[in-house]
Amino acid sequence: MGLRIRDGKLAPEGERKIDWAASHMPVLGAVTEQLIQAGSLQGVRVGVCLHLEAKTACLALALQRAGAVVSITGSNPLSTQDDVCAGLAGRGVSVYAWHAPTPEEYRGFLREVLDDDPQLLLDDGADMITLLHAERADRVDRVRGATEETTTGVLRLRAMATDGALRFPVVAVNDAKMKYLFDNRYGTGQSVWEGVLRATNLLLAGKQVLVVGYGWCGRGVALRAQGLGARVTVAEVDPIAANEALLEGLAVRRAVDAVADADFIITCTGDRGVIAEEHLLRCKDGAVLANAGHFNVEVDTVALERMALGRQLVRPNVEEFRLPNGRRLNLLAEGRLVNLAAGDGHPAEIMDISFALQALSLAWIAAADAEPGVLDVPPGLDREVARLRLAATGAEVDELTASQRAYLHSWR
Ligand code: ADE
Repeated sequence: MGLRIRDGKLAPEGERKIDWAASHMPVLGAVTEQLIQAGSLQGVRVGVCLHLEAKTACLALALQRAGAVVSITGSNPLSTQDDVCAGLAGRGVSVYAWHAPTPEEYRGFLREVLDDDPQLLLDDGADMITLLHAERADRVDRVRGATEETTTGVLRLRAMATDGALRFPVVAVNDAKMKYLFDNRYGTGQSVWEGVLRATNLLLAGKQVLVVGYGWCGRGVALRAQGLGARVTVAEVDPIAANEALLEGLAVRRAVDAVADADFIITCTGDRGVIAEEHLLRCKDGAVLANAGHFNVEVDTVALERMALGRQLVRPNVEEFRLPNGRRLNLLAEGRLVNLAAGDGHPAEIMDISFALQALSLAWIAAADAEPGVLDVPPGLDREVARLRLAATGAEVDELTASQRAYLHSWR
């Protein structure tokens, strides 16, 4: 068992966090029982790269209970929690991660997971899969398949597949309905505001919020800002998404115009440079900038640092930059994903759904004998997670009668 953690003495606190999360993840629990029965992960080495907080630890332990041998690292330098790493290591998982590693340490941890010779990979953002293809080409053939958690990772993997570079099948868990409709929308919607409000301790009601990007994450962020009494503006490039925002009662403006009024600017695009120098110079004094996307590329922090006459940490996770125009801008969590860098990530009940899908998809790809490429989650797995989630909440659904079913397939 490999081990690279900051401090083993943090284990009791980490275990408390893990146990709390596990007690709110019944769907993952039910899926684990199914996988134990099926035996499909028995003895299989699984390499995991995920945001290493308590719910992720629950997934690692679920895979371990199903018979897998798990090695894990973090998928972002600031989302790893050292106490969770210690708690997880104490329960027999090979952990290679600590909070705020240097870029070299971050890549080193990925390599250590790959050195454990995984047969399956579970990635979030595709750093592990891309590093494997770039650096360990001789090992790629030993991997049967993988799963990917997030929109950005799926985009990168599709680009690899288009280039003919992806050498094994990867299930795009992000694209399953039970993932993006809940995790991306309600998970991000809640956890982004948890991170922003925890970091700043400011009032949202009555404030002007600019949400840049109205995909599933942006929708959730806008929805919850409205619910907390903010006035919300959306900036979009897609005219259809922009029309949806309008009919949700949101204002739609160009980012470069909207920044001038915004108290909070939240980037949710997955693309780079959406808040660039021209936007930064137009922001109002005291504006808060936060990013909800996977990588720290959405706010141009290089331009911000270059322009700033001074900078200081004014609260944990809040850095104030003083611009030549006399205005101060507050950047949260270095522009890294604010919900995990300044908070604990999505709520347990949301990650319960996402990680149940992950576990089922991993077991499916282990046995699927699929061609290299990016694959959808089989619809049956999506429905199974929906069924288990309803059962866990006690909600019941109706069934079509035979006559109703026949009517839906008739045309006369
Ligand atoms: N916790 C673990 N993984 C997460 C993710 N991808 N997003 C939010 N919270 C998480």
